[in-house]
Amino acid sequence: MAPSAQQHIDDESYSSWRQRSELEKMADLPPELEEELTTLDKDFWVSGKKLKEIVQRFREELDEGLSKNGQNIPMNLAWTGLPSGKEKGTVLTLDLGGTNLRVCKVTLHGDRKGAKEKSELDQKQYKLPKDLKTGDADGLWTFIAEKLEAFVQDKKLGEEYSKEKPMPLGFTFSYPATQDRIDHAVLQTWTKGFDIKGVEGNDVAQQLREKLEEKNLPFELICVINDTVGAMIASAYNDPKTIIGAIFGTGCNAAYMASLSDIKKLPSNSERTANKQHVYTGDKMAINCEYGAFDNAHRILPRTKFDTQIDAASPRPGEQTFEKLSAGLYLGELFRLILVDLADRSLLFQSQDTSKLREPYAIDTSFLSHLEDDESPAFTATRDLFSSTLSLTPTDPEVEFSRRIAEMIAVRGARLCACGVAAICTKEGIREGHVAADGSVANKHPKFKRRWADAMGEILGWEDGDGAARIEITSAEDGSGVGCAIVAAMEIERRGGAKE
Ligand code: GLC
Repeated sequence: MAPSAQQHIDDESYSSWRQRSELEKMADLPPELEEELTTLDKDFWVSGKKLKEIVQRFREELDEGLSKNGQNIPMNLAWTGLPSGKEKGTVLTLDLGGTNLRVCKVTLHGDRKGAKEKSELDQKQYKLPKDLKTGDADGLWTFIAEKLEAFVQDKKLGEEYSKEKPMPLGFTFSYPATQDRIDHAVLQTWTKGFDIKGVEGNDVAQQLREKLEEKNLPFELICVINDTVGAMIASAYNDPKTIIGAIFGTGCNAAYMASLSDIKKLPSNSERTANKQHVYTGDKMAINCEYGAFDNAHRILPRTKFDTQIDAASPRPGEQTFEKLSAGLYLGELFRLILVDLADRSLLFQSQDTSKLREPYAIDTSFLSHLEDDESPAFTATRDLFSSTLSLTPTDPEVEFSRRIAEMIAVRGARLCACGVAAICTKEGIREGHVAADGSVANKHPKFKRRWADAMGEILGWEDGDGAARIEITSAEDGSGVGCAIVAAMEIERRGGAKE
């Protein structure tokens, strides 16, 4: 049941969008649009009190995931510790993102004297064909192997590496996966709109290895990591104050270092030895929370009817509830659904052709940031965007209405994004440090970081001027390139052999 607006508005702290908005008014709205906006704002506003309640529930779900397998937030073991900063070697890394496949040759210099940079990168990016995301496993691995093959030729890697002397390979696979060891990863469920048959429930490392073998490629797969783990490790390589790696992009998720004694579901070393399982020797292990799945039981998050619509039309309804309210993949879609609803009720774009607006996912997050950012005279940039993306010519009140909606959606997203990190910090008693953030929303939305920090302050009760205990959001180093290469280098070291 969708909660009514009243259920999540804390009257004391609720102030209307007119009071809160940072946007200058550019046109008066007719009364019916004004009324719609007020209703939407009440549905989208998450008060400070509500944020605290969400964080409380979030902590419970994080704890459940650490204590038992099969919980809603899986808290996946990542089998790696933090780097020393001295890791060295050359590794090929592969990053399967939401839109691109990135292949990098990463050279880590550690703290070698004379090296200007700690790492060097040579990379290529390939766009994922749209139908690959809904195709089958063989299509995915064949595409990856072909690109690897092209990279080997292009960069003449065959001169140095062979099947007998393979190049170490690290794979950043940013989907929820259960790992018994670092070179193994069973996909739990696809997220972010992917729906490739024949991969869920299977070890992606094994599937990739088989394809490498079939194509005779000179690589040895050393590790599979999540993008959040990569962001944390790459950032910690340079910045010892790193406490969390977080992605605010197409998806929304974070990783942190947990003490082994807190990971109740981890079998003891003796049990693992008896079962011939991998034994981990560190005292802390990286955990990929996979908290996009928070509140799949719909107990606490304030969902609007548009959130319900997004979920119902997604390939995995009922999954990734938190992510569907806060991540980049869905912000533009929320905006689109609101406009469609009003157009259906003849409140917007009357007598215009709205067919482009009716295409699912026709609008991405950058559309929203452009609207909030537009300082062009008479908002020509916004009008041009409407025209080029949607073939619509908005009136002044329609431009005004759209800017307000874009702001409301982005504000809600940033405030909710703070909840996941605040839950980890309060649970772990972390009072200061750097949250290394990556992803399109964190990097490209101009106001995200400030809104996120404001919400963190509200949740954690920071007073103005209380600069001492602060959790700051920083820009993560390259997790899927450098981070993944560092994890591979640590694993090679652990196995007792330097491969350069
Ligand atoms: C989704 C994925 C997760 C990833 C996040 C950010 O939540 O399930 O593995 O870290 O997106 O890319």
